[in-house]
Amino acid sequence: MTAPDRQAKVTIVVGAQWGDEGKGKWVDIFAEDAEIVARYQGGNNAGHTLFIEGTKYVLHQIPSGIFRKNQTCALASGVVVNPAELVREIEKVKATAEVTPERLWLSARAHVISPWHVHLDGLKENQAKEAIGTTKRGIGPTYSEKAARTGLRMGHFVNQEARDLWVDHMRDSDKSFAEFFKNSAAQWQEFFSAAAALAPFVCDAESRLRAAIKSGKKILLEGAQGTLLDLDHGTYPFVTSSSTAASGACTSIGMSPKAVTNIYGIGKAYVTRVGSGPFPTELFDEAGKHMATLGKEFGATTGRPRRCGWFDAVAMRYAIDVNGFDGIILNKMDILTGLRELKIAVAYQHPRLGTIYELPWDAGVLKDCTPVYETLPGWIEPIPASGRIADLPAAARAYVAAVEKACNCKVMMVGTGPNRHEALYS
Ligand code: GDP
Ligand code: IMO
Ligand code: MG
Repeated sequence: MTAPDRQAKVTIVVGAQWGDEGKGKWVDIFAEDAEIVARYQGGNNAGHTLFIEGTKYVLHQIPSGIFRKNQTCALASGVVVNPAELVREIEKVKATAEVTPERLWLSARAHVISPWHVHLDGLKENQAKEAIGTTKRGIGPTYSEKAARTGLRMGHFVNQEARDLWVDHMRDSDKSFAEFFKNSAAQWQEFFSAAAALAPFVCDAESRLRAAIKSGKKILLEGAQGTLLDLDHGTYPFVTSSSTAASGACTSIGMSPKAVTNIYGIGKAYVTRVGSGPFPTELFDEAGKHMATLGKEFGATTGRPRRCGWFDAVAMRYAIDVNGFDGIILNKMDILTGLRELKIAVAYQHPRLGTIYELPWDAGVLKDCTPVYETLPGWIEPIPASGRIADLPAAARAYVAAVEKACNCKVMMVGTGPNRHEALYS
């Protein structure tokens, strides 16, 4: 058994927390039943880890369906592309999977991350009074320029004349760009030379995706980052610069929301966050160390240690509301094994607002919230790798039931390890 619903036509997989929930692993699992797998936002700030027959792969830009045999992969308009990094990633993946223009569609509308954007991201982070803790991959500056309508799109990047016009425009309008351009020739050379390699992949991906939807093909849409990092709905300003929530998939593909049949939210059985920003259930004790060590909680993109904390049902309820999940995938349950007791945040306590049950819109308010916990007994017996949720030890089953009750949403699948087969189904 793989995907929870074999009749699904358009499925969106969304990170329900602050990213790194295990989207790569689950998209790879669901991809077996899909015909097209598309990333809808973000860029190479993402790091999606897959284990294929014991070998670890970390994908930053290529969708997590690429290791399946017959599936087509696509990067849609809402994605931002680092061309030189993508060329490198294609070369790496080619050792294991077929990567041809028929199998990988790059949207001509997707915006390009240039060396300038990466430079600006680093500069802003280093100079900020309160840094966001970005991945320094140029994500914010590229989306800013897209919104300012001065960005470079993939369709123009692979056309030398259009690309030169963009560089000329930037040089004329921004002195510091001109200076940076002059002083970083090697970076620009590498950037420009990626154009020829990527040109065959660039197409009107959205039109192809819509045609596929019309003809009844099965489409799987892979989110990057997580709901709490959504530009509008996350813990602003400690967010990324794209629409990570399910609605972002519709905008990116230019698809009617009516086409979507299934939406799944992936959350860890605990919570992690990398980068700055409020995190009410964050732990600084032995339980937090247990999660970080056993869960190998280091960023797949930057290698930074991830902050760890108890499962936050207030935040999950919010993610369920924002996305309309059909069900939750509770991932990395195996990591909780061995903890004497477990906690779930069911509400927050705020010094001025009292007990609150909803995620506040203001990161400043969230920062002062302390969790109100429900405490449950832990388990020490190892949990089964595969099978059914009902096969879990009694205390683990009770934990899943408590998550369902606190979130008022069904846990449809449980993750028990990093490999494809390490999954429990309801
Ligand atoms: P993504 O960004 O959401 O795709 O997640 P990442 O790949 O950044 O981080 C998830 C990490 O957890 C990776 O190292 C995965 O190999 C690993 N992982 C995924 N699912 C499970 C699971 O159920 N149990 C354990 N122990 N590890 C998992
Ligand atoms: P995946 O897809 C976890 C975080 C950064 C920072 C904030 C803004 O692997 O889940 P950015 O570079 O996007 O401007 O950084 O967002 N962030 C992620 N955290 N997983 C990710 O991706 C992330 N991508 C960005 O740490 O806090
Ligand atoms: Mg990740």
